[in-house]
Parts: sequence; structure tokens; C-alpha cells
Amino acid sequence: MDDDVVIRLDGLTKKFDDLVAVDGVDLNIPRGEIFGLLGPNGAGKTTIIRMLGGLTHPTAGGATVLGLDIVKDTSEVKSRIGVVPQNNVLDRDINVRQNLSYHAKLHGIPAGDIEGKIDEVLTFTELTAKRDAKIDELSGGMKRRLVVAKAMMHSPEVLILDEPTTGLDPQSRRLVWDKVMSLRDRGITIILTTHYMDEADALCDKIGIIDHGKVIALGTPDELKAQLGHEILLIAQLKVEARARIVEALEDKPFAHDVSMEGNKLHFRTDDKKAAATHLLANYADDVETLQFREPSLEDVFIELTGRELRE
Ligand SMILES: Nc1ncnc2c1ncn2[C@@H]1O[C@H](COP(=O)(O)OP(=O)(O)OP(=O)(O)O)[C@@H](O)[C@H]1O
Ligand SMILES: [Mg+2]
Repeated sequence: MDDDVVIRLDGLTKKFDDLVAVDGVDLNIPRGEIFGLLGPNGAGKTTIIRMLGGLTHPTAGGATVLGLDIVKDTSEVKSRIGVVPQNNVLDRDINVRQNLSYHAKLHGIPAGDIEGKIDEVLTFTELTAKRDAKIDELSGGMKRRLVVAKAMMHSPEVLILDEPTTGLDPQSRRLVWDKVMSLRDRGITIILTTHYMDEADALCDKIGIIDHGKVIALGTPDELKAQLGHEILLIAQLKVEARARIVEALEDKPFAHDVSMEGNKLHFRTDDKKAAATHLLANYADDVETLQFREPSLEDVFIELTGRELRE
């Protein structure tokens, strides 16, 4: 066994009746990596995370975390990993400090260590001022940070975060990013899910895109972007009355691939910048209000791989 692999998924599968939520996923996640799971709603991300955290068992295949089997060694797995679930799990009848202390007792942290650990995680998540606040007195972002603090109470070697930044303002998101990176720098292995592509791009060493329960792409953010080849994106704002006509006229042009309107802008991929821009300006100068090129983003890769239709 490769000692550097901290999390190993081996044909991991979960069926709910005849729905295959997770479909034979194989993954190896090395120590000290931030690994991102991306996928549309219902792709199976949370189900993978719940299985790794021992909250539900696979129906086929399996996984190990720190060499421990997620089914046979569930309680040891739980004591060595921290999980931030997609929905905040906090007890509203007790205050911030008591939520942390209750979690510590559940995890068997020695009584004499608890207060010190609470101070440490509150400082880390910048919640010290809210130590005695009730849960209902916290903002949404503070609650999310408190759930992160809770997951860190027992000093986990692996931290699993299901949408840690959903609903946070830009400052709180950056704070969570900084914290996640500083945990990685301490050697903690991190798996996170997110719907924010900029977040995945900025934060993740490696990304697995999953759809319909299967891993459909795996690589560093740059490797995934390189999958779109050397093409770049042309984006143009067109006068409203000209949009449909121009989109239709571009469909059979060799320099324009995947022509579409994204909101009020024309988008297409091209490997011939000059032909594309010249054509637009020569034929539709009066209808083109702005014109720009940009490199493909992770979001373009995601849409290309998972399509545009809704999953649910
Ligand atoms: N307890 C359950 N019973 C039945 N079906 C379930 C259960 N939990 C999840 N599913 C189904 O499994 C599939 C995967 O759900 P999952 O929550 O893992 O998706 P996800 O990738 O986390 O989506 P999101 O981005 O919306 O959080 C969905 O079709 C969902 O309806
Ligand atoms: Mg989910």
C-alpha cells in the first residue's frame, strides 16, 4: 500500500432502491492535498462524504481513510476525521462554547484539554467574541465557521467539508479559504465540495468532477482546463434585435464552436481568433457593442463535461 494515500475509494457505490447515487468511484487522495469534488446538484457528492464519515454505509465497493475501513472501523474513522456537513448541525438550546464542549465530550477529549481546545478553534475561526453567544444570535457565516470549529475540536488528520462556503459573503469565503490552506500547510488532508468554480480553482490541488455518481474527469485545475484544448472563448455583447440572427448565421462557421447566448452575451469557442473577430466586425459592426476573448475557465470545463440540463 502506498503510505502517502490517505483516502482510498475502491469501487465505492451507494444505491437507494433503484437509484444509483454513487456508482463505482475509485479515487486515491494523497496526504496533505486539498481535493475538490465538483458536480451538479444530485451528482452524489454528499453521499460520498457521508459514507467516508461513517454516516451511511456503501451498498458495494468500499473505502479506507488513514488505512481504516469505513465500514469495519467506523468509530475509529470518526475519531480521526472532522466532517463539516452540508447543513449546519448545531444545538440551538446551548451557546457557542457549550456546542464545542459537548462535541468534545462526545469525541472523548480529556476534560482538562477541552477549554484550551475551544479557545484554539475559536481563535482559528475568528469567533472568540461570540464565545457565549446563542446560536440564533450568530449570522449565517458565523454559524458556518462554528461548524468548521466544531469539526476541528478533536484535531482531525483529515477534514471533509461539504460546501463550506455556500451562502457566505466574499470576506467570509476568503477567510475560510485562508483557513483551509493553513490546515493543508499543517499536513491535514482536505476534501471539499463546492459549487463555486473560482473556489475550486483557487483552492484545490486536484479536482474530481462527478456526475450521475461517476467520476467523469480528474486532474489539477490547469489539467482540466487544458482539456478544452487550445481554443479560447469569444464573448460579445450584441444589440438585442440582432442576437438571434447572428447566432444562427454563426452556426456553420468553421471558426465558431458551441455558439450560444449566455445571458445577454454571445459566446463561442474558437481556435482562430483573427477569423472570428474579423468576421464579426466585417459583417455586424453596428450590432457588436463589445467584444472580448478569454481563456477557458473551470466553469467552462464543468459545463462542457456535465451539460446544461438540470439534474433533478
Ligand atoms: N437518504 C436518501 N434516500 C434516497 N435518495 C437519496 C438519499 N440521499 C441522497 N439521495 C439521492 O442520491 C442522489 C445524490 O445525492 P447527493 O446528496 O449525494 O448529491 P450532491 O452531489 O451532494 O448534490 P448537491 O450539490 O445538491 O448537494 C440524489 O439523486 C439524491 O436524491
Ligand atoms: Mg450535497
